[in-house]
Amino acid sequence: MRVSVLNGVNLDMVGRRDPEVYGGLNIRELETRIFEWAMELELNVTGVVVNPGAWTHYSYAIRDALELFDVPIVEVHLSNVDQREEWRRNSVISDLAAKRVIGNGPRGYREALAYLAGNE
Ligand code: DQA
Repeated sequence: MRVSVLNGVNLDMVGRRDPEVYGGLNIRELETRIFEWAMELELNVTGVVVNPGAWTHYSYAIRDALELFDVPIVEVHLSNVDQREEWRRNSVISDLAAKRVIGNGPRGYREALAYLAGNE
């Protein structure tokens, strides 16, 4: 059993991207934090946590790929995409997601894991 955490385009640049919007962690720190949270939550389920970055808003290729999973999918965004530019308000994957967590910075990944663990 495993939880896959998939970060999309330009998420490897967090830390260098606007920290006010995305938080100050770099991708290594973010992934370490996510791993620690998974341990803390004793995660023992199968699921997907995905933040596709800008692909969220237009990539039917990502959508097609996500459709192949028959496990719960949680969509995460560090920033509150619903309160930013108009083009960020559209997600082509949201209807595939069992849950969406937006605007909670890195802790949003913890919320996503907690949801999969059934602790929320
Ligand atoms: C993002 C929001 C997207 O609109 C943006 O293109 C990103 C990051 C987020 O985590 O807030 O790259 O997915």
